[in-house]
Amino acid sequence: MYEGIEYRGFGQDIVEELAKHAGVPVWNGLTNEYHPTQMLADMLTVREHFGKLKGLKLVYMGDARYNMGNSLMIVCSKLGLDFVACTNKKYFPNDELVAQCQQWAKEAGSTITLTEDVEAGTKDADIVYTDVWVSMGEPDEVWTERIHDLTPYKVTRHVMENAGEKAIFLHCLPAFHDLKTKIGKEMGERFNLTDMEVTDEVFESPQSKVFDEAENRMHTIKAVIVATLGEPEK
Ligand code: NVA
Repeated sequence: MYEGIEYRGFGQDIVEELAKHAGVPVWNGLTNEYHPTQMLADMLTVREHFGKLKGLKLVYMGDARYNMGNSLMIVCSKLGLDFVACTNKKYFPNDELVAQCQQWAKEAGSTITLTEDVEAGTKDADIVYTDVWVSMGEPDEVWTERIHDLTPYKVTRHVMENAGEKAIFLHCLPAFHDLKTKIGKEMGERFNLTDMEVTDEVFESPQSKVFDEAENRMHTIKAVIVATLGEPEK
């Protein structure tokens, strides 16, 4: 009955099983492990801004073991951007994926770095990227620990200044950067905070390209659908 199915959910094994049996294209709209369609929008945004991809330095701050950290490390290593996971070492991506990405990065002429050092990690970055600290599908109880572990890796004005004037800020959204949304207000009251992974100052700054990035989700997902659907029946 359907021409295609987009799965946005939890385990990667679920979308793979769905794809095996569906008989129509199945698009991975996000799993716990990967977020490939977001990568298309992100790389388009980076290329629109810098006019190139190869040789740029992308720094991911936050939970680098989850979908966004994994997928950014993969896409950077395949397209020749230097990737840095700058976070508490509890949140480094898994060794097997790092080894695979190091291989791809070597072929593309780029590097993969894992560091807990904010100053060195974000120095001269072209792209500073972050994501929510607790993802969909994770238990609510982990918030307190995440806030404790990841607050030193919040994207602040200091981080952007350390990266330099040419750096841009990206975020796959939704972001906790102010108290103006219902959920932002609830979280703010619960943890007595006004922001989490990024300050409002950075989120709203000229260096922030999050709305270009969000717009590019629309164009890139249409391209994926066109590229993968069969010819319409005459
Ligand atoms: N890591 C986030 C990405 C949201 C687009 C999540 O899985 O909720």
